[in-house]
Amino acid sequence: MNSMNATAIRTENMSEKVAKPVINEQPENAVITEGTTVGQPFADDPKFKLRNVEVFYGESPAIKNISLDIGRNEVIAFIGPSGCGKSTFLRCLNRMNDSIDICRVKGSLMLDDQDLYDPKRDVVELRARVGMVFQKPNPFPKSIYDNVAYGPRIHGLANRKSDLDDIVENSLRKAGLWNEVKDRLDATATGMSGGQQQRLCIARAIAVSPEVILMDEPCSALDPIATAKVEELIAEMSESYTIVIVTHSMQQAARVSDRTAYFHLGHLVEVNDTDKVFTAPDHKLTESYITGRFG
Ligand SMILES: Nc1ncnc2c1ncn2[C@@H]1O[C@H](COP(=O)(O)OP(=O)(O)O)[C@@H](O)[C@H]1O
Ligand SMILES: [Mg+2]
Repeated sequence: MNSMNATAIRTENMSEKVAKPVINEQPENAVITEGTTVGQPFADDPKFKLRNVEVFYGESPAIKNISLDIGRNEVIAFIGPSGCGKSTFLRCLNRMNDSIDICRVKGSLMLDDQDLYDPKRDVVELRARVGMVFQKPNPFPKSIYDNVAYGPRIHGLANRKSDLDDIVENSLRKAGLWNEVKDRLDATATGMSGGQQQRLCIARAIAVSPEVILMDEPCSALDPIATAKVEELIAEMSESYTIVIVTHSMQQAARVSDRTAYFHLGHLVEVNDTDKVFTAPDHKLTESYITGRFG
């Protein structure tokens, strides 16, 4: 392991992190060439085709010329040190960055060969196709039923009450929550446990029949048992949806994903099959990160 002897390189983003002890042993000879990703960043049957993507907050670049395909029905994990741009890149995929005034997205971002950023695109419809689950469960202060029924109602997916009931039940079943809540669908969602709330948010995302589900550290506020349930759910959902998950847990990435993408300071350094990333990564920086030399 050459990197053991490497001199620490201090970078702006690294030194921001003071909350926990961080070992800054990035290998000296690790080179990142902008716009170049080692491994397998492309897919045969891409759901998303992302080319030369750059994201700026005001003048400052957060994503630097990233090209990546996300395959249909694959689970891809985004990993990397805090502040490297994982959430920013994830939010490009359903135009969640639109709501941040100073944020600008450049490059070509295609969903099923159609321009995600076409000004004529209906963003509400897009976010039904590409749903999102956040770090902190964020149920509406409404009943369990109304949380799940919310999307189908605004998108007019059910004409009759019985159709809506079916959608609510099916979504809660798929989210592994039905048995726990079927007798109290009228109870307020905010009274549920954190793990239940997160599964409710997943049910709410599923209820509008999305094609893609984006998850930004969905388990970071959950205990290990609730985390295990959400991970089980991801495995089940992977049969029907394309899933992109940001996680700070390498174990989680290893458990749930088919491919793993390693981000570093706004660059996409490496993308490979998850097994390869965690056993024989192609890039020195990936190796240093997964062996815990910095983060
Ligand atoms: N709303 C924002 N306004 C300005 N800068 C931001 C905003 N969100 C993120 N950034 C900056 O963009 C960079 C990437 O952040 P982020 O995508 O949140 O990283 P990660 O999810 O990997 O921790 C960081 O330098 C961060 O400070
Ligand atoms: Mg983040």
